Amino acid sequence: MSVRPPIATEQLVGELHALAAISDCPEPPPAVTRIVFTETDRRAREYFISLCNAAGLVVRCDAIGNTFARWEGTDPTLPAVATGSHTDAIPHAGMYDGTTGVLGGLEAIRALQRQGVTPRRAIELILFTSEEPTRFGVGCTGSRTMAGALSPDDLRQLTDEAGHDYDTVRQQAGYKGSLSSVALQPGAYHAFVELHIEQGPLLEAAELPIGIVTAIAAPATMEFVITGEGGHAGGVLMPVRRDALVAAATMITRIEELAFQSGSPDLVATVGALDVHPGAVNSIPSRVRFTLDLRDIDGKNRDATLGAIDRATRQIADQRSVTLAARTLNADPPAIADPLVVSAAREAAEQLALPYQEMVSRAYHDSLFMARIAPTGMIFIPCRGGVSHRPDEYASPEALQAGVETLALTLARLAE
Ligand code: GLV
Ligand code: MN
Ligand code: MN
Repeated sequence: MSVRPPIATEQLVGELHALAAISDCPEPPPAVTRIVFTETDRRAREYFISLCNAAGLVVRCDAIGNTFARWEGTDPTLPAVATGSHTDAIPHAGMYDGTTGVLGGLEAIRALQRQGVTPRRAIELILFTSEEPTRFGVGCTGSRTMAGALSPDDLRQLTDEAGHDYDTVRQQAGYKGSLSSVALQPGAYHAFVELHIEQGPLLEAAELPIGIVTAIAAPATMEFVITGEGGHAGGVLMPVRRDALVAAATMITRIEELAFQSGSPDLVATVGALDVHPGAVNSIPSRVRFTLDLRDIDGKNRDATLGAIDRATRQIADQRSVTLAARTLNADPPAIADPLVVSAAREAAEQLALPYQEMVSRAYHDSLFMARIAPTGMIFIPCRGGVSHRPDEYASPEALQAGVETLALTLARLAE
């Protein structure tokens, strides 16, 4: 058996483009918007399932739409090896985030099939429901629930901006089983490995085709709602104003200062969403909501900065006589990759003569939660300019091929 799995790169690129065309983005592909449990999400899943069926995989879904495509092994009693990622996409995203690990995972399996490999353990390809936090505010709801980190009650409390709750929406999308059936026991999988674009510039700068992830940074999300007093933009004089947006702006500037002052070069803070009420040119903002995304490789430092932000924003609210309601939506610990998967990926890259570096993932992934129930690792490929979460996100066919080859060999090793 030749070492190099025969990757149908052109076919894979064609499938990535076909998936990118299933989008709600007002801009044409490669700009993609695909929000969980929408009609567009359903059509994307249907396309994925049709490709899995064509490859002879047996497909099942759990009660929140996590989708499992199984290639049976010669010993079905052994825990399977799993791979996968997500197909949901934030507004105005690119076409490679998540999809590379889903369709690339499928191509890795098809390449092993073409090669005549018969794995001892089953290999399961997982499409995780909503890795992105866009609709319900919390990322990785699929893998988070599989890992038992989000309970059925937690899921029921989630609502979208229109006030629809998660439980109703997932049932309307066709997923009707019991929410308590989603969590898996540790040991359900022998190992999990996710292929993903790097979403950062390091591999491209180092001219390396492969990154092997050793740890995933700890993400946290907060929501702040500030209530001041609205009024006429002409009639209310400056000394008596309680402008919610000026208070929010002061807080956001302070958050940036605290991020710089944290002492950690890895700490990043982003305020990415801001809603202003009533949002009229001649009306003083009475209510503002904004979100905070805060991450660090060092979970303790991330938490210390969260605490400092909490204190500073309360103080600003007091000084400006506005009320502040702040809540933490998630504050997850970092994840460490398992030596079993890291060494399998390393050996795969070496066998393929693909140079690699070990690195941390600053973005989060479903692997953050799979690591709680299975030995987990990730394979990164470079993306142009390190750009992601933008329509101009791009991974070359050569980069995709190297990643899928490495994934295929890693899976074959883990399934031996
Ligand atoms: C995942 O999309 C992340 O925001 O890291
Ligand atoms: Mn993403
Ligand atoms: Mn992703």
